[in-house]
Order: sequence, then C-alpha cells, then structure tokens
Amino acid sequence: MPFIAHDSLICPIDGLALLFKNNSLCCSSGHRYDVGKPGYANLLSVQHKRSRAPGDSKEMVHARADFLSAGFYEPIACQLADIISVQGEDELSLVDAGCGEGYYLEKIDSLIDKRLDLVGFDISKWAVQRAAKRCQGTWLVASNKRIPLADNSADIVLDMFGFPDFDSFARVLKPDGKLICVTPGDKHLIELRKIIYPTVKPTNGRQYPDFFSRDTQRTITYEIKLDRTALDNLLAMTPHLYRAPKDRLARLAKLEQISMTIDVRLDVLNPT
Ligand SMILES: C[S@@+](CC[C@H](N)C(=O)[O-])C[C@H]1O[C@@H](n2cnc3c(N)ncnc32)[C@H](O)[C@@H]1O
Repeated sequence: MPFIAHDSLICPIDGLALLFKNNSLCCSSGHRYDVGKPGYANLLSVQHKRSRAPGDSKEMVHARADFLSAGFYEPIACQLADIISVQGEDELSLVDAGCGEGYYLEKIDSLIDKRLDLVGFDISKWAVQRAAKRCQGTWLVASNKRIPLADNSADIVLDMFGFPDFDSFARVLKPDGKLICVTPGDKHLIELRKIIYPTVKPTNGRQYPDFFSRDTQRTITYEIKLDRTALDNLLAMTPHLYRAPKDRLARLAKLEQISMTIDVRLDVLNPT
C-alpha cells in the first residue's frame, strides 16, 4: 500500500517536523528516514533501541494475524468503532500505539462512516511490515516512549493490550482528545491460564496516572470456541508460551478444542 505521510510527523531525534519528499521523511536538520516499497517508515533510531529486534517476533506477529483474522476479537473492534463513531468531528486522527499487525485500525475504518487519518506504530518491524500491507495509513516502526507525532495532534490514541507510556500519550493528544485502553479482565483466557499455571493470578486492573480522568468504562465478555490451530495461534501470540511450565503446556497440547472466555476492560480517558 502507498505510504501516507501524516502532517504531524516529527523527527524522533530532534522533534523537528518531518516532510515527505522523494520517498523519504526528512527534518530540517538533515535526519532522513526512507520509506521503502512495503509502505512504512522506520523511525526507531539505533540509539533508542534496547535490542536488535525489539517487540514481538515475526512468529508472534504471524500467529496474531491468523488469530485475529478468524474474527475472535471482532466484538472488541466493534465496541471501539461504536465509541469512536460518536466522537467530535467527521475527520479524526486515530493513532494505534503498539498497533501490532494493524487489525484494529483496518477494522475500525471499515466500520465507521467518518474520515479517519490512520496512524499505526509499533516497536516491532515485523508487526509494522504486516500492517502496512493491510490498508492505507501512516505506518511506522516507533516506540511509545518517543511517539513521532507533534504535541496536541491526535484526536484518539488506542492502547490495545499494549505497553503504555502515559506521558507520551498525554503529549500527543489534543486537549479534547481521548485515550482508549483495552486491558485483560480477571476472567480473560481463564481456561487457558488454569491449565498452564499452577496458580492463576488476578489481573489487578490497570491504574491510570492522575493526568487522565476516566470518561467511560465498558466490560466486554463473551465466549469463543477454539480448535487446535486457533489455540496454537493464541499461545504463540502471547508470552504464555515462554512463561508457562513445559509440563503444563504438554497438557494443553492434548486438547483438540476448548471454549475460552474473553473478558476485557475498555477504558475511555480524557487528558486533564
Ligand atoms: C500484546 S501485543 C498487542 C498488539 C495489538 N495492539 C493488538 O492488540 O493486536 C503488544 C504490542 O506492543 C508492541 N510493543 C512493545 N513495546 C512497545 C513500545 N515500547 N512501543 C510501541 N510498541 C511496543 C509489541 O511489539 C506488540 O506488537
């Protein structure tokens, strides 16, 4: 898909505006980021990387893409679309922070009758490579810690099962913008967790800093039926595969199908 250059992009090194010309994003002090054929820009500079391949691995990204494309989390996307469809203007900039392989932005865009300027970024280049093939948008390899967007430029920031940096979210949101966070509830994937962990810990709910106030909260709970392939994908897209004891994983490997509870909390927050 062709790359769309959002007009609020900034250089992750010096914070100057980035202009798109000759297939590169350039700032006035000479930093240049090429936009390759796959339609995304890598704005994660070497000095800000903590490892050679940060974020989710290629295998995790592919497993998540297969899992999500089967529609298991579609009710979550529908609730998001429902909330976003009643927000302010007919044109909104929608930023997915830690967008993974882009499922939610594409789905929300298909469900809403507004003009959405889609910006999706993730620290994993595998995720962004996959996302950029999905639909037109500003797809970036970048980190929550240094979101390459100007202050007060986003109408909505999504943090879906992500690794939030609330200071950065507050910085890029417009004063009347919204932060929407989706986090696991206590019963989320409980059947899986009961099999693979000797004791199941409560999720404890997420605490938000006081520069965000809660606007609304929804709980989304339903059941899905997973066959062996879907279960393998679910395991591979989460850290459970690496965290769970081997003997417990072996128990799971014997199952041909399983019913699984989806239980997530959706918080809509206002910057204060
Ligand atoms: C659990 S996955 C969720 C992906 C997607 N939001 C979804 O719900 O399908 C978390 C994602 O956050 C990304 N990530 C981890 N640390 C990040 C950071 N500091 N900045 C941006 N993305 C990050 C990972 O690469 C991964 O794609």
